[in-house]
Amino acid sequence: MGKLTDKVAIITGAGGGMGKADALLFAKEGAKVVITDIQLDKVEEVVDEIKEAGGEALGFHHDVSSEEEWKKIVAEAIQAYGKIDILVNNAGISNAVPMLEQTVEIWDKVMSINLTGVFLGQKHVIPHMIENGGGAIVNISSIAGLTGGSGSGAYTASKGAVRLLTKATAVDFAQHHIRCNSIHPGYIETPMTADLMANDQMREWFLSQVPLPRLGKTEDIAKGVLFLASDESSYITGVELPIDGGYYAK
Ligand SMILES: NC(=O)c1ccc[n+]([C@@H]2O[C@H](COP(=O)([O-])OP(=O)(O)OC[C@H]3O[C@@H](n4cnc5c(N)ncnc54)[C@H](O)[C@@H]3O)[C@@H](O)[C@H]2O)c1
Repeated sequence: MGKLTDKVAIITGAGGGMGKADALLFAKEGAKVVITDIQLDKVEEVVDEIKEAGGEALGFHHDVSSEEEWKKIVAEAIQAYGKIDILVNNAGISNAVPMLEQTVEIWDKVMSINLTGVFLGQKHVIPHMIENGGGAIVNISSIAGLTGGSGSGAYTASKGAVRLLTKATAVDFAQHHIRCNSIHPGYIETPMTADLMANDQMREWFLSQVPLPRLGKTEDIAKGVLFLASDESSYITGVELPIDGGYYAK
């Protein structure tokens, strides 16, 4: 029996990177996975991969910053599987623009995806979790949500807000047996960081920041997401889990 047998999970931004690794691991552990992303072709590839391995998955185009689209995704999940046990708010965009050069338009875009997207997911999924007697929410923040990095104020502010939204949610919905925790990835090799890490000098700099002598893999994050989503963490809520090779310990 898998760690998520009979559970239904929505994972956002799961067309690639960490969200895809989460989806593959969740399906392997027996979950029925609802995979969403703005890149529908990538979503369909992940769904096919899961089905070929004997798992259960559905995929949808979904912009997490749209409340209408959240309503649609939640309705599709309920119609297909009758409940939602797990929500992984993973979709996010990076943004490295010095503050004095930042525009309100880009600031708002970062917030609408990285922060409002998490709020909307919680708002529309939690009522179903309450009805179902409980659930687990895992919000993907960042080490940038724990410390003030340089040159990415909007991203840092959005991820810091996700950290505390997670704790507020944990406190507000604990009585309904809903747990809510955040994960704070360090430097992880994904499509988001591919260009930076392809640059030898940048790669060396990233490595120099991390105590463990390697950069992170998507599977490193997926294992933590699985733990916080599964019943193995049934008495853990409101915590922040850095998965960062020791970066935040310094
Ligand atoms: N890669 C890292 O080093 C790192 C470090 C810390 C935190 N994170 C966070 O981890 C999460 C996953 O990042 P990743 O590195 O796998 O990135 P990624 O770019 O590889 O994957 C993110 C996915 O989100 C999707 N997406 C973008 N905008 C969306 C929207 N409006 N609605 C729905 N989906 C959307 C993209 O299409 C993409 O498939 C993000 O929240 C990111 O901020 C990443």
